[in-house]
Amino acid sequence: MPKLGLGTWRMLGEDCTRIALQALELGYRHLDTATAYDNEAAVGKALAQTDIPREQLHVTTKVWWDKLEPQAMRQSLDASRKALGDDCLDLFLIHWPGNTAQGWSLERSIETLVALREEGKARQIGVANFNVAQLTRAVVEMGAPLSVLQVEYHVLLGQQALLDFTRQRGMVLTAYTPLARGQGAETETVQRIAKKHGVLPSQVALGWVLEQDGVAAIPKSNSAVNQQSNLDALKVKLDDEDRAAIAALRKDVRIVNPDFAPVWD
Ligand SMILES: NC(=O)c1ccc[n+]([C@@H]2O[C@H](COP(=O)([O-])OP(=O)(O)OC[C@H]3O[C@@H](n4cnc5c(N)ncnc54)[C@H](OP(=O)(O)O)[C@@H]3O)[C@@H](O)[C@H]2O)c1
Repeated sequence: MPKLGLGTWRMLGEDCTRIALQALELGYRHLDTATAYDNEAAVGKALAQTDIPREQLHVTTKVWWDKLEPQAMRQSLDASRKALGDDCLDLFLIHWPGNTAQGWSLERSIETLVALREEGKARQIGVANFNVAQLTRAVVEMGAPLSVLQVEYHVLLGQQALLDFTRQRGMVLTAYTPLARGQGAETETVQRIAKKHGVLPSQVALGWVLEQDGVAAIPKSNSAVNQQSNLDALKVKLDDEDRAAIAALRKDVRIVNPDFAPVWD
């Protein structure tokens, strides 16, 4: 999976197709969508229209948390495959854990996820927004071959417990909201580091995420200028002094926290 992908949340219809094609032309090879974003068909159109061979591209999609029963999950995946025009998805994620009080069984959902992979409907499987206890049940207790954990991660939110887990298990942690929607670049520390290296503050914020082992990132941008700038963040070289300064920033800014979120680590 390419380290940098394009997040597509809030991109819809023809705009979404155009923005995804623009990103592919600039060099993006990884697109992040979900049934909940209502844009899989638009992303599918971009995949159909681009000249880039499909095998050079990586597409992630996700099943929403009210579709985690076996039958519903299967139907969701089939609908995603149809919308994206793919026989086999690159990466299929559970978007959020379900609600145990409403009868959600983590084990049943993970069993279904694993079965879908074994049936060849998804090359890789994973989860988003799981906490360490939920990951432990899925990966350690059930032995599920999860490749990816997607969670919020940026210069203002620490995720050490999850990073320790994913690194130990050879999983990739994909950082969503990796720019903290601009808040990372607004800090004095990040601005000072950017000035020192002659790059943009957003590139320092994103570069810090991208330089980490076992971490990928999926910033969202509609604009070609910002998409290119985010690609260039792959080349940013931070030093130990920069890393220490970023490590000292507050790490409790959580931007995505809906009422159905799990207890965070
Ligand atoms: N799994 C989950 O539960 C989950 C939850 C949230 C998000 N996600 C995924 O993560 C993706 C990204 O997250 P996000 O959209 O919440 O936050 P984000 O990527 O941190 O921030 C996006 C915002 O930053 C701006 N931006 C992007 N690049 C920039 C640059 N180089 N300079 C200045 N501004 C820049 C964008 O504006 P412009 O468009 O104008 O550039 C947009 O307003 C989503 O699209 C989605 O795919 C997943």
